[in-house]
Amino acid sequence: MTVLITNVRRYGDGDPVDVLVSDGQIAEIGIGLPVPADADVIDGDGQVLLPGFVDLHTHLREPGREYAEDIETGSAAAALGGYTAVFAMANTDPVADSVVVTDHVWRRGQQVGLVDVHPVGAVTVGLAGKQLTEMGLMAAGQAGVRMFSDDGVCVDDPLVMRRALEYASGLGVLIAQHAEEPRLTVGAVAHEGPNAARLGLAGWPRAAEESIVARDALLARDAGARVHICHASTAGTVELLRWAKEQGIAITAEVTPHHLLLDDTRLTTYDGRNRVNPPLREAGDAMALRQALADGVIDCVATDHAPHAAHEKCCEFANARPGMLGLQTALSVVAQTMVDPGLLTWRDVARVMSENPARIVGLPDQGRPLEVGEPANLTLVDPTARWTVEGPALASRSDNTPYEDMELPAVVTATMLRGRVTARDGKIA
Ligand code: DOR
Ligand code: ZN
Repeated sequence: MTVLITNVRRYGDGDPVDVLVSDGQIAEIGIGLPVPADADVIDGDGQVLLPGFVDLHTHLREPGREYAEDIETGSAAAALGGYTAVFAMANTDPVADSVVVTDHVWRRGQQVGLVDVHPVGAVTVGLAGKQLTEMGLMAAGQAGVRMFSDDGVCVDDPLVMRRALEYASGLGVLIAQHAEEPRLTVGAVAHEGPNAARLGLAGWPRAAEESIVARDALLARDAGARVHICHASTAGTVELLRWAKEQGIAITAEVTPHHLLLDDTRLTTYDGRNRVNPPLREAGDAMALRQALADGVIDCVATDHAPHAAHEKCCEFANARPGMLGLQTALSVVAQTMVDPGLLTWRDVARVMSENPARIVGLPDQGRPLEVGEPANLTLVDPTARWTVEGPALASRSDNTPYEDMELPAVVTATMLRGRVTARDGKIA
């Protein structure tokens, strides 16, 4: 397949160029390139070319809860959102705590072919927090698992976490922590504060997250290991990350689009769509997270795409499953919260949505420079277009978006995986 993208600005910078893609690579970059006879031409006028996005935190629900999402529908959402690689979390049923499950997820993703679906292996058997999994076998399998997490729950036992970090460091793989001290969140369903109190909802204190972030920074320091913090949600976490990085601790962190844009003032009704773990915090936390992403204290954006079926969301708030869709809205929320206010340029968006996540997890073929000879994992964005989010119109099998009826800036117009167009003009190609 040969594709010619005409008049496009790489990273939104400089003069427009033509980019020729063939044999899965960027073959040529120039002005007024001839159109090869067999080429599919994409008009890139006014558009921004970026490296394909990499999501370190996606829940695709396969195996076990395919009624909410599966690898096919989740891959479609990813491609439409501009992603060329996603990391599928291990809290499936059965849990991805063995090579049988992780290799299934990888192979099914390749079969669907819209995005590289990298399975995340569980840190502990059954996510029970007691016994470490055979990380080495999962890492050596076909999927080549490179990231492990019990996300959904925290590896709360400090001794287990310490051993996990030591074991992972020997294998050269990454541990990603869902930072939540469970003894501080028993029954908690919303951020601890007046908005939760007014609705009579049990509060989730910031300290539940921050105490684990601080502890894991120290464990990583002592083990000489790397640790990645999932979905940072508080201003205090930002301060701890800043401190840990200053000490030279190998800690990285992600922030979700919903924690950048939304806060707990949305809790005026019992709408289960606002339930998410960690919970939506206060406006001051969201501002601190934006600044941290701009400063590099937070390394990347990850969606925590968490599909849930209608019957799991349209019920009492405390019974609603936590989680929000994210893959198809991530770029637009980043545009709204970071690019429009001048906190990030499009060049920076390439860094936080593609280059940094690829580097954190060590993916050699993603987040690469937009240069000749590089793999053509590409995303094309119209930065001036706007769109209105409608849950049922999204590719996911579920429609639990918190952005229903919201108008957002920036539209992903095309995505290419190894030179093949996977999504174009809002449709799977
Ligand atoms: O809101 C969340 N949903 N947070 C998590 O940690 C897990 C996720 C899920 O699996 O639905
Ligand atoms: Zn989580």
